[in-house]
Amino acid sequence: MQHIVNAQGLNMPKLGLGTWPMLGEECTRAVEQALALGYRHIDTAAAYDNEDAVGQALANSPTPREQIHVTTKVWWDQLHPDAMRHSMDRSLKALRSEYVDLFMLHWPTTDWDLPRTLDTLVSFKEQGLARNIGVANFPLPLLRKVIAELGTPLSAIQVEYHVLLGQNALLDYARQHDMALTAYTPLARNKVSQIPAIQQIAAKHGVLPTQVALKWLLDQPNVAAIPKASSESNQLANLAALDVRLDDEDRALIASLSKRERQVSPDFAPVWDAFDE
Ligand SMILES: NC(=O)c1ccc[n+]([C@@H]2O[C@H](COP(=O)([O-])OP(=O)(O)OC[C@H]3O[C@@H](n4cnc5c(N)ncnc54)[C@H](OP(=O)(O)O)[C@@H]3O)[C@@H](O)[C@H]2O)c1
Repeated sequence: MQHIVNAQGLNMPKLGLGTWPMLGEECTRAVEQALALGYRHIDTAAAYDNEDAVGQALANSPTPREQIHVTTKVWWDQLHPDAMRHSMDRSLKALRSEYVDLFMLHWPTTDWDLPRTLDTLVSFKEQGLARNIGVANFPLPLLRKVIAELGTPLSAIQVEYHVLLGQNALLDYARQHDMALTAYTPLARNKVSQIPAIQQIAAKHGVLPTQVALKWLLDQPNVAAIPKASSESNQLANLAALDVRLDDEDRALIASLSKRERQVSPDFAPVWDAFDE
């Protein structure tokens, strides 16, 4: 059974495959394998330098392109209209596609004409190059400005989110505005496997800690998750997380964990929202 997030015309499988930092043949092989196992959502970005490898996997796979959700993103130093257009053209060419399912601004910047950047983003949707548009790594005040003040029809936001990092305020806002929230780094780079409370829940159900961490995300309305996994065994385990059944006691235990551990915060990151647990 497919588990889908529906938001403003977006129909995105809840579990996707993250592709960073895979490159070249390793990436092509991992994406082809994931598609063969049943994944129908692939996350890439211009900055990952692997869109061509993903495009090769899409071309090799017997699964029709229209059955696969592909997200890509434009880097933060390419947000002037001409540069954005070139980035979109390069992405489509590399992905061997006439459209992407979701096109995102990868990070905000301060060096931009925000309304023009957003107009360009919207024009991609109007031209059918992007079926849906979204943003990644936008803190809540900036997301509010983009939606409430500037009226941009975003279907999704992508942020770091896992059992060690809370995103309640952003998630509330996303739900109120019929947007999906894609959780990146959903396994906290496998740190979730070392958390005693997660190990305890996993032992209780006879599953893996990574599956508990993923299912906690996937059970939440509007939330999708994109764990990166290269091996067949990890890809399969992550897919099987969809079948795990967590109960109220498990959720209460996970809610009691401190949620302040951000894994991804490069020097160009915005000022993040206060931690919310
Ligand atoms: N928008 C953004 O700014 C942004 C930032 C960061 C990441 N992302 C996206 O999010 C994706 C995932 O994030 P991430 O790669 O940072 O972290 P992650 O998915 O939390 O962790 C990936 C690591 O966990 C391992 N792993 C996966 N499944 C496992 C399993 N079942 N058991 C044990 N280990 C497992 C992987 O190993 P193997 O590969 O060996 O399986 C890899 O080392 C990226 O690939 C990218 O697409 C987006």
